[in-house]
Amino acid sequence: MAPLILRPASPAHGGAAVARDDGKVWLVNYALPGEVVEAEPRGRQGGVAVADATRVIEASPHRVTAPCPYFGQCGGCQLQHAAYAHQLELKRQVVEEAWSRAGLRLPPDTAVLGMDDPWRYRIRGEFEALASAGGWRFGFHRMRSHSVLSIDSCLIHDRRIESALPAFAQAANELELKGLQNLLLTVEPTGHGLLWRLRFRGREPKWPRDEFAHRVAELLPEAVLLDDAMSLEFWDMTFRVRSDTFVQTNYQQMLVLYSTALSMLAAQPGDRILDLYAGLGTISVAAARDSAGVTAIEENPHAVQLGRLNARINSARVEYLPGKVETELRGVRLGQHQAVILDPPRAGCEPAALAELIRLGAERLVYVSCEPSTHARDLVGLVRGGYRVRRAAIVDMFPQTYHIESVALLERKG
Ligand SMILES: C[S@@+](CC[C@H](N)C(=O)[O-])C[C@H]1O[C@@H](n2cnc3c(N)ncnc32)[C@H](O)[C@@H]1O
Repeated sequence: MAPLILRPASPAHGGAAVARDDGKVWLVNYALPGEVVEAEPRGRQGGVAVADATRVIEASPHRVTAPCPYFGQCGGCQLQHAAYAHQLELKRQVVEEAWSRAGLRLPPDTAVLGMDDPWRYRIRGEFEALASAGGWRFGFHRMRSHSVLSIDSCLIHDRRIESALPAFAQAANELELKGLQNLLLTVEPTGHGLLWRLRFRGREPKWPRDEFAHRVAELLPEAVLLDDAMSLEFWDMTFRVRSDTFVQTNYQQMLVLYSTALSMLAAQPGDRILDLYAGLGTISVAAARDSAGVTAIEENPHAVQLGRLNARINSARVEYLPGKVETELRGVRLGQHQAVILDPPRAGCEPAALAELIRLGAERLVYVSCEPSTHARDLVGLVRGGYRVRRAAIVDMFPQTYHIESVALLERKG
């Protein structure tokens, strides 16, 4: 059979490039727009044919050699074959396309804020356990698969996380632990703490937890091993973080994201702010410093508990409403808040949450999103409800991967 030759022309969300061949649309992994590649079909994804580029016939000037030996097999990174400046341009095009498909125009002055050094940025990593002939190992899911690829290095994680993995595997082997599922590691960006959580398949069995922690600590003398909470410090504030709560995985870019969002929010000393999907309260506490106070809404009870503690640690005027945004907003009275910041998970906002936001009619909304399609969808809902998009920014929280974080400022019309 003749090899499949494809000419991708534009980027798709997910890291692939879109090619058209005889009217048929292909998503081509590991190819860049403008290239000619030989490709191998890999089935379908969301109704579209998928192929992997197996040979580059005409390379893009933006193509680079991926530095990671696992690139192409590992499910973690999709864009290492593109120069970093080009990754940022591809992400801008993906956002622009998502907005235009929803009927919106991405403001032409939208900044794309990347990293000077787009490696070793992750302060949190979740590693799958793999029972190999030589004992336990840790790794990641393979691309489009549930099988696990064990790894010795990962260039997007903090080096302290990478070097801790063999110690956890060795201790698990020495203590003959059974049924491991995954290991979550989070490092303190400005301290020595290493927060760990080991999960088992099914119900957690009885296991020698203290002995395990002791052995790992012996093997990692430079780390301060923590299994309850760690510190996250920035801008003279300090927060407690736990394994069961969300934390921004890219510390450096978290600061860029928060500065960008808070400057859009432009809180005035007399303003009251709503922080929706507030997590453990980093944005709430930071916004409380510039305003009369913040009402934070969050559904994860562990995050609410930590958020209240974080507000106290930082003497910040933050009040938590525990529960779902779509439900809790119903109890918020009109005219109480001048500005809202929201940072929902990938699925975006429930229609009821958007309806409540429109009812409340705050002057300014700052919407932070990690999924361009739901961001665009929700922005359209808010525009229909009387808002206008004033500014936008893309903050690259996830270099080398397809993930995109974008922020939009909306102002109420009239
Ligand atoms: C992307 S995180 C944002 C956290 C925070 N803004 C930060 O920067 O750390 C989303 C948060 O929304 C919470 N969440 C998800 N769905 C929710 C809902 N329907 N109502 C309230 N909180 C929700 C999650 O528990 C999580 O803490």
